Amino acid sequence: MPRYSELMKTVEHHIANLDLADAGRKRIEWANREMPVLSAIRDRFRTEKPLQGHRIVACLHITTETANLLRTLKEGGAEVTACASNPLSTQDDVAAALVAHYGISTFCIKGEDNDTYYQHIQSALNSKPTITMDDGADTVGIIHSERRELLETIVGGTEETTTGVIRLRAMAKDNVLQYPIIAVNDADTKHLFDNRYGTGQSTLDGILRATNTLIAGKVVVVCGYGWCGRGVAKRADGLGARVIVTEIDPTKALEAVMDGFEVLPILQAAAIGDIFITLTGNKKVISREVLMNLKSGAMICNSGHFNAEIDIPALHSLASSHHESREFVEEFQLNNNRSVYLLGEGRLINLAAAEGHPASVMDMSFANQALCSEYLVQNVSKMDRNVYSVPTLIDKMVAQLKLDAMNVKIDQLTEEQERYMNSWNEGT
Ligand code: NAD
Ligand code: ADE
Repeated sequence: MPRYSELMKTVEHHIANLDLADAGRKRIEWANREMPVLSAIRDRFRTEKPLQGHRIVACLHITTETANLLRTLKEGGAEVTACASNPLSTQDDVAAALVAHYGISTFCIKGEDNDTYYQHIQSALNSKPTITMDDGADTVGIIHSERRELLETIVGGTEETTTGVIRLRAMAKDNVLQYPIIAVNDADTKHLFDNRYGTGQSTLDGILRATNTLIAGKVVVVCGYGWCGRGVAKRADGLGARVIVTEIDPTKALEAVMDGFEVLPILQAAAIGDIFITLTGNKKVISREVLMNLKSGAMICNSGHFNAEIDIPALHSLASSHHESREFVEEFQLNNNRSVYLLGEGRLINLAAAEGHPASVMDMSFANQALCSEYLVQNVSKMDRNVYSVPTLIDKMVAQLKLDAMNVKIDQLTEEQERYMNSWNEGT
């Protein structure tokens, strides 16, 4: 007899196993210990109810940290519906806890196939959102193509990641974006910390949990030296790897060189790398040609948003057979008699094989999400169908609240210093 049968009738859901709810709640509470900024916002939302009357569809990685964001939005008065932003990133115990303990409609199952993934987004959209919250712009894409009737009630949205923001800016440029969206990713308190330190640590965590391989002494090839790539390169270096960076942007490549890394074209790196990690937001970075030149035993994985960075169809066509070596590790026997190991199906390895970024860094990303949804509700009448930056006031507030929580004090400008910094005619 399922323990949560009454709730099953009242909170719509399609999840793996409601009996995981207690385990999920424990982990959500554990994560909450390291999310003081979001907790403070939740306390304020509980009394002020700034999101009252709004329906939010949150298409995010369903993790313990996301659960704490969703609780915050609900305390703010919103009706919240959750679905996953990647078929492999759901934590099934968290999904169960969202339904059974927090009364949040949830549609996601770890390892769901593509059809189920999209069906879950459609189910979430049936709640007729007034606000969309994406990690990768999937709800925005579907609303603008298949569910245009929903545009009538939507007032705005937020976007969590680099790849989503790039897509939304392309939509705005082509004049097809139909409602304002705040690019949470572009806040300093998001990408400087989440993309760099969060992805840096959790990507290595995903590789280690999937393989239990020793990083020291390995040649780790980091493809893309943006915010995420910088973080991953630094952490791989710290674990004793010899790090090679590949780039297409001369400035980023120069930065990698001056940070002490070797920079090579991917085809040269192909022959010497032991572990390849893509973080570019681009496609076919590990192309057919690269795959053919990998040395036997090479491991390849991705931590960029989509599973397009490794040419997986080419990998299949180059292989005579493939099988699972261990969970999240698939060995491909190539026709050139070499073996290649694909980790986490080429999906975000930090969320597929590990738990994503630690709570302390998601605290800032999701504080931005919560405050931006409040800002959206209060300012939507002044906003156009465009992509907006996070207001500096919010960005600075999140930084200050995080410093306060860490008990770190900083200096204040004196009046004399402030005058000096704002003048052009005061001498030295
Ligand atoms: P970014 O724009 O700062 O960096 C991307 C870098 O990749 C750029 O320097 C670009 O020049 C480089 N690049 C593009 N094409 C390339 C190619 N063919 N070869 C080599 N380099 C190439 O972006 P970012 O914030 O670092 O994000 C990177 C990806 O990671 C995005 O898809 C983003 O959505 C995703 N992301 C993932 C997580 C996670 O949890 N795994 C977290 C944040 C962002
Ligand atoms: N993206 C990266 N890590 C994450 C996490 N822990 N929760 C939600 N989204 C994430």
